[in-house]
Amino acid sequence: MEGRTVVAIDGPAGSGKSTLAYRLAAELGLPYVNTGIMYRALARRALQMGTDPADGPALQHLLEGIGFEVDRSRTPPSLVVDGAMPGEELVAPEVEALVSTVARHPEVRRAMAERQRELGREGAVMEGRDIGTVVFPDAAAKIFLDASADERAGRRTREREGEAGVAEGLAERDLRDARVNPFVPASDAVLVDTTGAGPDEVFLQALRVVREALGGRR
Ligand code: DC
Repeated sequence: MEGRTVVAIDGPAGSGKSTLAYRLAAELGLPYVNTGIMYRALARRALQMGTDPADGPALQHLLEGIGFEVDRSRTPPSLVVDGAMPGEELVAPEVEALVSTVARHPEVRRAMAERQRELGREGAVMEGRDIGTVVFPDAAAKIFLDASADERAGRRTREREGEAGVAEGLAERDLRDARVNPFVPASDAVLVDTTGAGPDEVFLQALRVVREALGGRR
């Protein structure tokens, strides 16, 4: 069990998942796997290849050609795409605009979940939307982060300073995500509302939750 601890961090865009999941991984000595990157990488590849975003089987085929690995030379070990650290190309507006559509196909989601189980096989802090419900329903610890719509939009605007239309983009993507993939917290997830809380406060609260769930295993 020791080597296979999975901590699931789920929640909507802008809830503070990435900051928290990264810090928890570093603190617990586990790999950090951000599964949003995998959907973004697929959306980007579809753009590059001119794949129809409505064609689930074609997207699934495209996904087979993308390499996802945990780079263990990093601290914490983290996800690389075709051997490279994911960068700004995956937060480009054209990727943002397409990613929810690409993520809605059942065959894509099934294939992603399989790849994610493989990546988390040795244990990981895994960040996404459906980790605690679908990918690792028996994760050792599950947190579902949330924040008010205003706060989430504000965070995204600060993350992408100077970019116009971020709040609108986020609101649209929220709507699309909610319509095509209504993600719900796992029934056994601990809900953490990050509205008005700083990253240190959220981290300490989540760390307490995780340590309690792990019963001293980390
Ligand atoms: O977490 P993020 O904003 O980087 O995620 C990008 C997109 O990928 C988002 O629109 C929802 C989708 N996604 C998903 O459907 N399932 C996941 N486990 C992670 C992300």
